[in-house]
Amino acid sequence: MPSRLPPFEADLARASTLPAFAYTDAAILAAERDRIFRRTWQPIAHAADVAAPGSYVTGAVDGAPVVVTRDAGGVLRGFHNVCRHRAGPVASGKGARRSLTCKYHGWTYALDGKLVTTPELGEVKDFDRSCHGLRPVQAAVWGPIVFVNLDRDAEPLESVLGKIPDETRAFRLDAMKLVARKDYTLACNWKTYVDNFLEGYHLPTVHPGLFKELDYDAYRVETHRLYSAQIAPIRRARSEGGARHYAPTAEGELEALYYWVFPNWMLNVYPDNMSLNIVLPLGVDRTLTVFEWFRHDGATPEEIERTVRFSDGIQLEDIEICEAVQRGLASGSYEAGRFSALRENGVHHFQALVHEHLVRSR
Ligand code: FES
Ligand SMILES: [Fe+2]
Repeated sequence: MPSRLPPFEADLARASTLPAFAYTDAAILAAERDRIFRRTWQPIAHAADVAAPGSYVTGAVDGAPVVVTRDAGGVLRGFHNVCRHRAGPVASGKGARRSLTCKYHGWTYALDGKLVTTPELGEVKDFDRSCHGLRPVQAAVWGPIVFVNLDRDAEPLESVLGKIPDETRAFRLDAMKLVARKDYTLACNWKTYVDNFLEGYHLPTVHPGLFKELDYDAYRVETHRLYSAQIAPIRRARSEGGARHYAPTAEGELEALYYWVFPNWMLNVYPDNMSLNIVLPLGVDRTLTVFEWFRHDGATPEEIERTVRFSDGIQLEDIEICEAVQRGLASGSYEAGRFSALRENGVHHFQALVHEHLVRSR
């Protein structure tokens, strides 16, 4: 079905957007799950949960259950959380264990994935236990987050992140802890939401309150191979932080940084807090966005609440426009549009990556 996609123009000034059907067609979403979500690094858990040797944490990538372990020697490993017997779950939640025991019939695996016990197996023939370890996936920790990539041939997280670890080093992200989480379910395609995130073009109209505080003329998006960074200088007094579009800078302070990493997660980094947004497709026109806030120790409940409330206001404005856009895309009246060459390079970059992943042969 992706073969129906027209070619995507690399020159922003000539390019048209992805066609409307890419936002409404179930076959396109199925291809995105297979070629994008199951082949890219996905945030699935928190690093604090697998910091200690002998700990594990579970999660999912595109609905596929995974488990990440830290074995006794301190090595981090990722596996499909799927028993080799009859596909039961070998772990749930998180915790500390010497081994993982399947909930269904009790087969037990070491934290390095090896199958160690198979109770009451009887006289089975041609069964080599050493060939029935948990199926591995790639796992990595960066900052306060655990990432998994189901594609064992995918490039390492480190190379996908490019300059981000260096640029954020001074913020000491790995010392930040989760303080709040908020989920939103939206009636739009996941790309409708990501497109919207990647431009400041809608600031004057969709976020008039925020617009007044920003130096809109200086707002820009820098694209890198698999991520982009938004630079949004603030015009007046410094903000509380907590949403993107917002860069609380003051003399002698660290500048705020806003990253989007292909395909579906964003990091908004401030001197005293960071938020992670994850965008997850639930259907062609249903999307879950998960917002998590992390802070260094010492934040008061009031400070946390203020950060969440500020972000919430911006998010509700974005949800309203994204849902309206989805209705427009599904109206039958719209095929594709043109980009602002001044303001939508980030959206063009994202759509080019989606297109590239959907049409490539592998
Ligand atoms: S499915 Fe795991 S022991 Fe049977
Ligand atoms: Fe917005």
